[in-house]
Formats: sequence, structure tokens, C-alpha cells
Amino acid sequence: MNIEYTEHAGLFHLSNNAVSYIIKLLENGQLGHVYFGRRLMGHPDFNHRNERMHRTISTYPFENDTSFSLEHILQEFPAYGTSDFRMPALEIQQENGSLITSFVYSRHRIYQGKPALPQLPATYGNEPDDVMTLEIHLEDELIQTEAVLYYSIFRNYAAIARSAKIINHGTQPLNLTAIMSMSFDLPDSDYEMVHFSGAWARERGKVLRHLAPGIQSVGSLRGHSSHQHNPFFILKRPFTTEHSGEALGISLLYSGNFLAQVEVDPHCTSRVMIGIHPAQFCWHLKPGEAFQTPEALLCITENGLNSLSQTFHGLYRNHLLRGYWKHRAKPILLNSWEAAYFNFTEASILSMAKTAYDCGIELFVLDDGWFGNRNNDKTSLGDWFPNYNKLPDGIRGLSKKIHEIGLLFGLWIEPEMISRESELFHKHPDWLIQTPGRTPCHGRNQYVLDFSREEVRENIFRQIDALLSNAEIDYLKWDMNRSITDCFSASLPSFRQQEVFHRYILGVYNLYEQLLDKYPRLLIESCSGGGGRFDPGMLYYAPQGWISDNTDAIDRLVIQYNTSMGYPLCCMGSHVSSSPNHQAGRATPLDTRANVAYFGTFGYELDFTKLTDLERKKIREQVVFMKKYQNLIHTGLFYRLLDPQENNRIAAWMTVSEDGTQALVAYYRMLNEVNAPYRTLKLCGLEEKKLYRITPGNLTCYGDELMYAGLIISDNSCGRVFDNSLKTYDFYSKIFILEQV
Ligand code: DGJ
Repeated sequence: MNIEYTEHAGLFHLSNNAVSYIIKLLENGQLGHVYFGRRLMGHPDFNHRNERMHRTISTYPFENDTSFSLEHILQEFPAYGTSDFRMPALEIQQENGSLITSFVYSRHRIYQGKPALPQLPATYGNEPDDVMTLEIHLEDELIQTEAVLYYSIFRNYAAIARSAKIINHGTQPLNLTAIMSMSFDLPDSDYEMVHFSGAWARERGKVLRHLAPGIQSVGSLRGHSSHQHNPFFILKRPFTTEHSGEALGISLLYSGNFLAQVEVDPHCTSRVMIGIHPAQFCWHLKPGEAFQTPEALLCITENGLNSLSQTFHGLYRNHLLRGYWKHRAKPILLNSWEAAYFNFTEASILSMAKTAYDCGIELFVLDDGWFGNRNNDKTSLGDWFPNYNKLPDGIRGLSKKIHEIGLLFGLWIEPEMISRESELFHKHPDWLIQTPGRTPCHGRNQYVLDFSREEVRENIFRQIDALLSNAEIDYLKWDMNRSITDCFSASLPSFRQQEVFHRYILGVYNLYEQLLDKYPRLLIESCSGGGGRFDPGMLYYAPQGWISDNTDAIDRLVIQYNTSMGYPLCCMGSHVSSSPNHQAGRATPLDTRANVAYFGTFGYELDFTKLTDLERKKIREQVVFMKKYQNLIHTGLFYRLLDPQENNRIAAWMTVSEDGTQALVAYYRMLNEVNAPYRTLKLCGLEEKKLYRITPGNLTCYGDELMYAGLIISDNSCGRVFDNSLKTYDFYSKIFILEQV
């Protein structure tokens, strides 16, 4: 890993064994982009890569020079209106109304390590030599403003982390109307943009489109990263598959409004950017003040999407997740939501918990309905004290009893919300986000607390703190069940109202930090009506997240398959729920429900008191299986093998231990077949010359056979079966265990 500056050429070259990222100072002092890709040896100046053409109908900043036009130059952090007409990375409205800026190089710093970002999530190095940072300081002399661009390269990953900071050194206030976390221009546009879009209960559908001239973008203006789009996208070559080919992954470590965009210009270069969405955003920067953007991560590969995902997985696991739970096995849980909804008593909870303990479950989570007068979703958000009608001994008593049973205890909470019917609303009707003189929109009968205000956060912190210090709580599920509308804060002046969305999410991060500071062993699972705020920013605080409210195993195959593109399995909340499923109404076998849920954090969400003896026996076996293979699943290399969206509704994936000695292969077929074709599944990541024993069965094969000839997965759907116990069925699945002998 190295960052080299060649002064005579104005060249910065960040490299490790896998990649190079090359930046060059342009003639006007601004930053040009030279290259991001497989590691290059370097070149004394790379001048030849800056192609300069005279193109008719262009504009030029230098007198008598028609070769230099920003319109035609690959840039790093572009501005609009001085011969470039594409979307800028930065836009500053000045006292005189002008939006024109010119940031030119002033100095740089290169150092080991990586700075933390104030109030924001960020990747970090564990050892001083894990990561190196380049800071490039740019200045716009006319408005006495500095821009600092941060580039960090990790020793062991094909990845660059970027962010930017603006400092107003002048005497006039400025308005930051747009600031991306990163932007750079690719020299061509022969890419497919893959983004992960959907809606509640069908989050992260894979959408693929070939780049076309003009702008293609996804984003959120909902105040949270959203069910609809995810702050993560991929640019891949058309022929890139899971196993080979170039791909670039871009993610934003941020949980609020975002924009992820590619703009293809008429000469087929592609401007790639990600950051806070400039719509509904304007940051007022007084003299002396600074603004720091969230961090963006760029990962790159030449070896297909699986390898790109593995880079994200490794980076997040080792350099984003933090604290006590970072490398610890997550407890296998039972959650009460789909088991009881709002309808429970202490006795019913305890009997569920006893059965759960008997089945090997480690953590009982009491979901919504335990506080205030909460018997439906119309009341009590904001009143974080127990409902003594349901829980006569309160949360303190219940948590003790759950601990006595032998389980950890977890609690659901939705700290950012307020119900009109609540004590908090009667005391503080002015604490919600609402625009003066207008009736605010409701969502799930609730309103959003103004988390940009310290006194609001303070009140909620005090209430949660009282719970945590009084009762024995090991885990919190932090929910957020609606988008933000009517965005306005009563505590801010008019010229700061466009800051509310960003201040809100900083407030959310701040409450997370406060709680984790005081309770460092607390495990927090983030949730937002399922997957409405499942993003890398959240993972910095909550090492696991509920990826969707849809718990149907078959729908989950697609959701988990796509989520794994950018997120590690150890943070993907996944539960076995009852059949027929409460969202999809589909009946699926218990084995298949577990076979899908294993490839996530794993838990259950069904009424354990209603289980048959056979189901209880099976669940016991499933928990034993998960405990045995949890480490392999959560720390192994994950390979997607068959995409359920493409392969006749057949899915397959596998995880291999880092040393290649052990693997789990999972195969799922949604609809049964008759007289089906013979089938093999080519495996990945094994050691060619090592023998593997395959269970179930009694077969031993070399790694090369399993990878290049494939594991035979034909089953009894290929012929007539007379033995009922061997028959296959709809929603069939099978897990193979491979052990080196
Ligand atoms: C939405 C969550 O995603 C569910 O799991 C559950 O916690 C409900 N909220 C409770 O209101």
C-alpha cells in the first residue's frame, strides 16, 4: 500500500497490491481523474492520458487555448459553469448570488491511518498500517473557501474511501447547495448500472440498465435511505457475471436522503457521483464554519460480482462494524412480533420464552406493544414506560424472569416517533416535525419527532436510559416506521430549514452513540418497517439490521440474494416464521424456511407455544446446526451460484471458510418438477487438490471436480419415485456440507 506524489507532474498515485487510483493536477489547478482499476506500475507524468482535442462549440477558460475545456476532461470533483456543463460535485451560493466557484490545488498531506468523521459513520483501520490517507486541499481564493478531499486506501482491499469537507475562511456566509461525497469521471460508458430498488416487503430488487446518454440516478428524499432505493450501486461491464469480469461498486455510508447518479456525456464519458441528495438541501456556512460530507466507498474488481461483494463484506466486517459485537457470534433469537403482535401478557410471553429456551434459543425479543397504552398502532409512541396491564412487573420484572429462564432479553423501541395519543404529545405537541400553519401528514398513525433538536433527543435518551439501567436488557430493536414529511424544525431560523433532513440523521447517529457509549455491550438491531433504513451508515452503530418485513422464505431468497451483493451475511436479519406466511400467504416446509434463514443472522418469529412435537424437535436440530456453522456462514467467503431471478426460479449459494477446509452449499427450487433435467452445480472457492467429504451422502470428491465438473444435484424429480420419503416437492431445498478430509 502506498500513496505517491510526483511533484513535477502533479500526480497522485494511490495503490495497493490490487488497485491503483490516479489523480492529476490540471493546468488550471483543479483535479483531473486519470485512472481507477487494476494496479498499474505508474508513469512519470501520465500526460498522454489527458486527451486534448479542439471540439467545435466548446468553451474554454484560457485565452488563445482551445484545447483545454473542462467539458472534455475527466475530473475528480467538478464544478459547473466554467466550461463544464454536467452536474457538479459541489455548488456554493455566495453572498452576491453567484454559484460559480473555482477550487484549485493548494497543498496536500499523506499519512498512515484514516481520520474519523465528526458525527458521522466511517470506515477505520484497526492497525496503523491498515490504511493510508491522502488529503488534497483546494482553495477558491475569491470566496476564501477551502475544500478538503479525503482519499483512503486499504492495504488488503481493492477499495478507496472518499469524503469531502468545505471550510469557510472568509467573512461572508455561504450556502452550500450541493456537495457530493465523491465524484469522478470514467473514460467510457459501456457499463450496466445495477441498483437495488423496490418497496416495502420487496426491498432491494435487482434493476439493471445499460448506461445511456444523459442522467441515470436513484435516490431518496424520504429522510431515510428507504425501502425504495439503496445507497449502493454497481457499474458492471455487460459481460460481467458473478464469476468474472470488471465491476465497480459504490456505496454511501449514510442513512438519510441520498443521490446515486451516473451522467453520460455526448462523448460517452461517465460522471459517477454519490452523496447527500442536493434537492431539499442547503447548508448555511458562516465564516469559520465547516461542513463534512458522509463517506463514500468505491470497490473494484476484475473477477466478477462475487469478488466485488466479498470486498464489501470484508471491509464492513473488519473496518465498519464496531464494538463488543463486532466479531462475536450473534445470539439466535425468538421475536414476538409475528408470534403475538400486540396481543400478549407476561404469562404468554414467559411460556413462549420457556419453549424457546428448551429449543436452544439464546435471546428473547419482545417486539412492539409493551409500553404506554399500546394495544394497536394508534397510540403511545414516545411513552417508553411499561404497560402494567400487560406486564404487571414491568420490563424490569419481565427481563429478570427471562434471564432466570436462561435467555438474553431484547426489547423493541421506535425512538424517533410520536403518537398523538401519548403523554409525550400532550406535554410537547411542538416537538414533531411539521411546517407552521399546515397539518402534518401522518404515516402508520404516527408523527416524526424533531431529532435535530437536542432537547428532544435528550428526553428520549433519558427514557431509554431509565429502561436500560433499570431492567436487564441485552438487545434493542430500533424501528422507524414512516418517512419524513412536512420537513421543518421549530428550532431553526428560516435560512437553516434546508438543513433539517441532514441534522435529523445526525441526531439519530448521536442518540445511537450516546446509548452505545453508556451501554457498550448492548446489541442494537436497526429496523425501519423492515428494510427502510438498511444501509452501511447504520451498520456502524447497529451490527445487524432487519432487511425486510417480508419473512416468506421464497421471497426472502431474492431479497437475501440481492442484499448480499453489498452487505455481509452476519448483519442481515433473517427469521424463520410461521406457515402459511403472514405476508405472502404461502405455505413452505420448515426445513426450507430454516435453510434460507441460516444465511443471515438467524432467528425465529412464530408462536413457539403452538409448535407440534415434531416441529419442536426440528427447531432444536436447526438451532444446533446454526450454532455449529454460524462462524462459517458469517465469516466465510460467500458465493452466489444461481440467481433465483434468472434460473427458472432455482437459487443456490455457498459459503467457504477462509482456509478452504469447510463449505456449506445451499440449493433451493421454488416449484417442483416432473421428469426434470439432470443438474450439476459448479462450486467455487475450494482447494483444487484437496478431497472433500459431502454430507448428506457418502461421496468424497476433489475440489477441482466440484468446481469444474460440478456437484451433482439431480434428485428424485428426475424420475419416478416410489418411496414417498424421497419425493421432492414445491419449495424444496437442500444443504450440502463439505469437509476437507
Ligand atoms: C415494523 C417492523 O419491521 C416489524 O418487524 C415490527 O417490529 C413492527 N414494525 C412493529 O410495529
